[in-house]
Amino acid sequence: MGLPATARIDIGRFWTTIERSGEIGVGRPGGLSRLALGDADREVRDVFIAWCREAGLSVRIDGIGNIFARRPGEDDSLPPVVMGSHLDTQVNGGRFDGIAGVLGGLEVCRTLDQLGHRTKRPIEVVNWTNEEGGRFSPPMVGSGCFTGAYTLDWALGRRDDDGRTIGEELDRIGYRGEMEATPRPFDAYVEFHIEQGPILDREGMQVGVVTGGYASTGMLVEFRGETAHTGPWPMERRRNALIAGARLLVAVDDLGWEHAGSGGKATASRLVAWPNKPGILSDWAQATCDVRHADPETSAVMAERVRRAVHEAAARADCTAEILDVWNWGGKVFADELIEQVRATSLGLGYRTRDILSQAGHDAYFVARHAPTTMIFAPCRGGITHNNQELCTPDDLEPGLNVLLHTVVARANR
Ligand code: GLV
Ligand code: MN
Ligand code: MN
Ligand code: MN
Repeated sequence: MGLPATARIDIGRFWTTIERSGEIGVGRPGGLSRLALGDADREVRDVFIAWCREAGLSVRIDGIGNIFARRPGEDDSLPPVVMGSHLDTQVNGGRFDGIAGVLGGLEVCRTLDQLGHRTKRPIEVVNWTNEEGGRFSPPMVGSGCFTGAYTLDWALGRRDDDGRTIGEELDRIGYRGEMEATPRPFDAYVEFHIEQGPILDREGMQVGVVTGGYASTGMLVEFRGETAHTGPWPMERRRNALIAGARLLVAVDDLGWEHAGSGGKATASRLVAWPNKPGILSDWAQATCDVRHADPETSAVMAERVRRAVHEAAARADCTAEILDVWNWGGKVFADELIEQVRATSLGLGYRTRDILSQAGHDAYFVARHAPTTMIFAPCRGGITHNNQELCTPDDLEPGLNVLLHTVVARANR
């Protein structure tokens, strides 16, 4: 038996979980700071798992700390239909980015329990570790590891700015489980997320059918120079790594402006240096930057320009440069059958619906390499996000969650 067409998630019950989660990792007024594998991330994970167990889901943690909560299917040997996103936030993050997709998956399971509906295939809800990359580079390390883009050993050794590794922090918070040698198959993956841009809100749309994403390349770059006294040391002998980093950041920003007319973005978002103190030149600097464009070829050209800028910046400051990490995502990677199913479901439920490209990175891009995948977007006010003022109302999220419910259940009953 299929799910009744009248079935709806319980937005009040969902909202109670959103409000409780918004008390964990309180940051600036209205916002959150739940950096991956910190104490607040541990607390939100603990609370999420407790809710999953209350809902009768069985919980499993893998070697990179991804959490999978499972609702058995009638035929439990079939690959699951998986929903999810991330519980971590940026340092000045909002209450919806990521977690709405995780708690939305949990709410789908609760709704099915309430209706006494058992799907043919199992259903799972996942929290991917370190989606944001706000503490550990690269972003999306959990989904990247699960799907084989990164090796587990490499990922476990990634360090934060204080030198602590992902592996150490997983052990500290008690979230290091067992990794399977090969990732188990998913029947499908559907990620619900807020748009994080202004389009749906501006146009009064209730549901975004995500047809793909801006092609994006991010880089972590390291410069090495030499410390010296800022006074007596001659200008022509300076090897100030801080200046190499600064030149790169400005070059990347200029590149963004050059492509702004066609909607391109190039961003320099992080520069750290050592010792970064008055009176001394820095012998080490790290910078993080990314480029994004709807057209993959243009994005690739922009990434190449950044590589050139790295070497020019280093040469100007007489430093050496190394590109430590490169990450790529986006493009037209989602499954047509799922995109079509989301669109038809949303229109069938009577929601104002439009196709949209994601401009942000999401775990779904990695999962798309592993299983048929798509995303559902909900509007957020003014598109404000990665900001403590990020805001959604229950009315903003309810339509997309109902599309998630019906899309996932139809797929799981195939
Ligand atoms: C990650 O979520 C990004 O889009 O930078
Ligand atoms: Mn997110
Ligand atoms: Mn985010
Ligand atoms: Mn993201």
